[in-house]
Amino acid sequence: MTDTLNFEGRVVIVTGAGNGLGKSHALEFARRGAKVVINDLGGATSGGGRDSAVAQKVVDEIKAAGGEAVANGDSVEDGEKIVQCALDTFGQVDVVVNNAGILRDATFHKMTQEDWELIQKVHLGGSFAVTRAAWPHMREAGYGRVIMTASGAGVYGNFGQANYSAAKLGLHGLAQTLAIEGAGKGIFVNTIAPIAASRLTESVMPPAMLEGLKPELVTPLAIKLCHESNTDTGQLFEVGGGWVSRLRWEQTQGARFNPAQGFSAEQLADEWDTVQSFEGAGHPKDMMNTLKVVGELIGVDLSLSKQ
Ligand code: NAI
Repeated sequence: MTDTLNFEGRVVIVTGAGNGLGKSHALEFARRGAKVVINDLGGATSGGGRDSAVAQKVVDEIKAAGGEAVANGDSVEDGEKIVQCALDTFGQVDVVVNNAGILRDATFHKMTQEDWELIQKVHLGGSFAVTRAAWPHMREAGYGRVIMTASGAGVYGNFGQANYSAAKLGLHGLAQTLAIEGAGKGIFVNTIAPIAASRLTESVMPPAMLEGLKPELVTPLAIKLCHESNTDTGQLFEVGGGWVSRLRWEQTQGARFNPAQGFSAEQLADEWDTVQSFEGAGHPKDMMNTLKVVGELIGVDLSLSKQ
């Protein structure tokens, strides 16, 4: 099959591209003609440390295969520097794949302030910093594709990962608002929640699972969402092991009370089954449905107000 999703003329930043998923994404973007910024701090899985050879190795691999790439060893916390590297080397930035990540797992009662802050800084802060630095250039060009890398741990929660879960679902919140703000400028932002064998998962997954969960089975989704033909935005996908699936919100019809009269906790308890029943549930795409329902109850057309 020929590759129709071509990235000739596009400049792609992949953060954390020295290993695992980021490396797989970067190699494939380059193979499809993109000029790629290989960002990687080259640190430990729990943060700390630095090794510029990690990014350079991937650049060497891309160049040996006839592709174009540049190494960048800054932390994603210094997003400006990474975007400047793309501009200085290739003159533009079309795609940002926010992928760099670390783990500081601990059960909540043992989680330190440092465990919490470092995870927020790298995942949420790093994705903010790189995307924020690229954003004005994308707006000016009227074009951009951005990926946030979340996790099932953020979507569903996971024992020992309170810090990581909070940051990872935060990334989807960030993506949803950027999707709204970017749509008019041709900037589309989506979130992927991958599962793959990597440095981060090698100690928690059994060998047979690691064997099957190749990072290359996640990359086609990143390629598809970052291509100019993609118009999906603000979406959340789960991907791994050959499976790609979309997630969405589901909202029950809910119980309704007269706001003028108020309602007690006991009245709410009587209606609890209605609050919880997914019969006839909707799948809201934005805040409009909530504003409409609440507006109807209080007798004000909230849909006309600024969200
Ligand atoms: P990995 O450890 O193989 O790759 C992550 C890369 O990010 C490393 O090369 C590391 O040096 C780099 N990095 C870490 N901190 C950095 C910083 N401050 N600045 C620049 N680079 C930095 O791990 P993997 O699994 O490939 O992870 C990629 C992303 O996917 C992460 O955001 C992770 O949380 C996410 N993820 C991975 C899952 C999996 O099953 N492997 C599951 C869910 C999410």
